[in-house]
Amino acid sequence: MNELVSATRRLKDGDMEQHERVVIVANRTPATKTAGGLACGLLDALREKPSLWFGWSGELREDDSNSVQLSSIDSLTVAAIPLAREAHNRYYNGFANGVLWPAFHHRLDLMRFSETDYTGYLEVNRHMAEQLRPLLRPTDLLWVHDYHLLPFADMCRAQGLQQRMGFFLHIPFPVPSVAQAIPRIDELLDAMCAYDLLGFQTEDDRSAFVNLCRERRPQKPVPETGVYPIGVDPHTLRKEAELAPQVKLWPNESIQGILSVDRLDYTKGLPERFKAYAKLLEDSPELRGNVQLVQIAPPSRTDVPAYVDLRHQLTSLTGEILGRYAMLDWQPLIYVEQQYDRAALMPLYRQARVGLVTPLRDGMNLVAKEYVAAQDPADPGVLVLSRFAGAASQLDGALLVNPHDPGEVAEAMRVALSMPREERVARHRRMWAVLCASTIEGWRNRCLEDLRKVKQKGARPSVPFSVSELMRRSREAQDAEVEKAHS
Ligand code: G6P
Repeated sequence: MNELVSATRRLKDGDMEQHERVVIVANRTPATKTAGGLACGLLDALREKPSLWFGWSGELREDDSNSVQLSSIDSLTVAAIPLAREAHNRYYNGFANGVLWPAFHHRLDLMRFSETDYTGYLEVNRHMAEQLRPLLRPTDLLWVHDYHLLPFADMCRAQGLQQRMGFFLHIPFPVPSVAQAIPRIDELLDAMCAYDLLGFQTEDDRSAFVNLCRERRPQKPVPETGVYPIGVDPHTLRKEAELAPQVKLWPNESIQGILSVDRLDYTKGLPERFKAYAKLLEDSPELRGNVQLVQIAPPSRTDVPAYVDLRHQLTSLTGEILGRYAMLDWQPLIYVEQQYDRAALMPLYRQARVGLVTPLRDGMNLVAKEYVAAQDPADPGVLVLSRFAGAASQLDGALLVNPHDPGEVAEAMRVALSMPREERVARHRRMWAVLCASTIEGWRNRCLEDLRKVKQKGARPSVPFSVSELMRRSREAQDAEVEKAHS
């Protein structure tokens, strides 16, 4: 790190010692952000205020030998740590994305539990808490993000940390009947209750969590919870969208464009979407030659088997659609796995007559909000949105669809493609108002204000069977075994 930067930081740190500092903890840091992901949105909300962001650096090593790497983005200091390859594999691929991600999205059929992965997940949470501890000040406000870090507060409390700790879940919370199928859910619930405040995207998610707590731990208090739908910065996004595009997607004006942008993930409903599009072409021959779907889908979590299968399925569906409908002078579908940053995407959203966002289940879906923000208010495109995205509870100007029903999605596309300008303008105006009333800045402020207000739980142990306690006992038992073997 540049000496001037570090000297300035020391000065700033000295000034700040007595003041509150927001400390973000997330699996990813802004240096490792991915499309539409958490890091991208949070960075916008944080770079203006002195804060610390702690997470994984993206680097994998053979062991997790300590080395916190510091860097800065405006007023934000980023503290990133490498992780041991084996531990990361169990924590990230194994438990977080092999159990929690599918189960929280109601895909129990894709859930693959193993004891080793679960222990790896707990170990990485404990390790991260240990690495963060020396960087903290007593007045810090900790704001922890997403399903990778459910037991993080519990691990911090076990190490004696007393700072206020809030948690925000970016993905949906499963209904109790599904949640109860997650192995070790009771331990995880107890650990989650070590947070002072738990935030969710929608009221459905919040009440699912509270109901599960009441069902599984009836004698214990339910922690403070709140609903905080994550937003965007609509004015900045609009400005980005107005810039000249790197690519003119539909230079031929007779072609109406449909655009979808998603991580290549089975929750995003991509095969279902492709089938709905094929149905549209099949049932409306007059659209052939006059419409084109561009799907941008950068691969993610490629070490998890379900993602590999999905990719095969999609490339095969792409081939089928092209084979059946393409003509020498017209391609019905463009499928791109390349990843683009947000600034490059915004002008593309603005060119699309239809924004097609049809996840099977989604916490919020910021692509839907970005698409709305990008539109020209005088001649906007139409958002076709899954009713199972968190954004559907806010964006009432969208055409809401059931993504499992190809006929319904095809019909919504048809309606969107022929919607008169007046109706498009009116729908867009309503959604723009929602974006402005629910910005990312407002989201951050509401979450943090509520966290400042809640009654603090303070030092451990306040939850007698939390995972940190179970881990301690299990380590003691292992030590005792080793000792016995040696005596
Ligand atoms: C979702 C999760 C985020 C995650 C992002 C990208 O949006 O809620 O926590 O960062 O997907 O996934 P990845 O596994 O690449 O971090």
